[in-house]
Amino acid sequence: MHFSTFLLTLFSSAALSAPLAPRAATSSRAIWLWDSDLIKDSTSLSTFLSDVTNPNYGISKVHALIDRDMGTSTWTNFVSKCNVSGISVSALMGDSQWILGSTTDGGPTLDHELTWLKQYQASAPANAKFSGVHLDIEPWGLDNWSSNQATYVSTLLTLVDEVKNVASPLNLPVAVDLPFWANTVSCQGSTLDVCVLKHVDTTTFMTYRNTAVGLLAVATPLLVDTVTKSSGKPVWLSVETSPNVADAGLISYAGKSVSTLMSDLQTVENTAKTLGGFAGIAIHSYKEFKELISG
Ligand SMILES: *[C@@H]1O[C@H](CO)[C@@H](O)[C@H](O)[C@H]1NC(C)=O
Ligand SMILES: *[C@@H]1O[C@H](CO)[C@@H](O)[C@H](O)[C@H]1NC(C)=O
Repeated sequence: MHFSTFLLTLFSSAALSAPLAPRAATSSRAIWLWDSDLIKDSTSLSTFLSDVTNPNYGISKVHALIDRDMGTSTWTNFVSKCNVSGISVSALMGDSQWILGSTTDGGPTLDHELTWLKQYQASAPANAKFSGVHLDIEPWGLDNWSSNQATYVSTLLTLVDEVKNVASPLNLPVAVDLPFWANTVSCQGSTLDVCVLKHVDTTTFMTYRNTAVGLLAVATPLLVDTVTKSSGKPVWLSVETSPNVADAGLISYAGKSVSTLMSDLQTVENTAKTLGGFAGIAIHSYKEFKELISG
């Protein structure tokens, strides 16, 4: 797409949507991109870029699943195109089976992902480098989580440290996804929300509720813990937009309008920033958000 067409798309999609109040300058919005193989297709990539840069959504960060055997040039093309639009891209990786020393469906190991990342950061031009690592391991998704919690939490921290040890010399901040009930799980003399944050730079809590009031109810104790026990490291909240999740009627914005979602994000941001410890809100995930915005 020519740049002028791209701008026209931006303006027309902005004009067609309901006007929205200005956002808080102090927080950011991010989005997960799990089906990152769309970046191989120039049409899908253009659609992605126009969706993500739509000023009504206020998105400035993408967590894109690496590396999908797509090769370096596919990634440099993608990250540099995001960069020119002011969007930073973090390298998303994760598999709950890593906790058991295995992978899901022959997927990549953590070592593979870290080796690829090191090689990529060394060879990519400055405007095409990743700006962080986003880790989504989620051992609580394993069958026998409740009976193995202590072991799995300890293995999670080992893997988190492994990532941090690779990311630090590359100057890449590390983020870890955690459930909203992480403050009820024991971890190294404290709770999982506090303890993981000690090992990394930020965490993203899956505070999945489909009203501002509901989301703030699960998020507030986490933000309070962050301020009182982990000073100096703001954390992320997040929203779910998928229809294909358990309790979708309670936790997902699927089926609601994009203006409801945006107005709720604004409400959450206004309150969350008064509590401190708040970095922003991440949207899960592009595929479902795209369905939501196309109505
Ligand atoms: C774009 O790349 C430059 C390096 O060329 C970097 O300094 C800047 O932070 C990047 N911008 C974003 C939004 O990631
Ligand atoms: C956990 O469950 C899996 C099967 O889901 C089993 O293979 C494994 O041995 C179990 N691990 C422990 C420590 O109980």
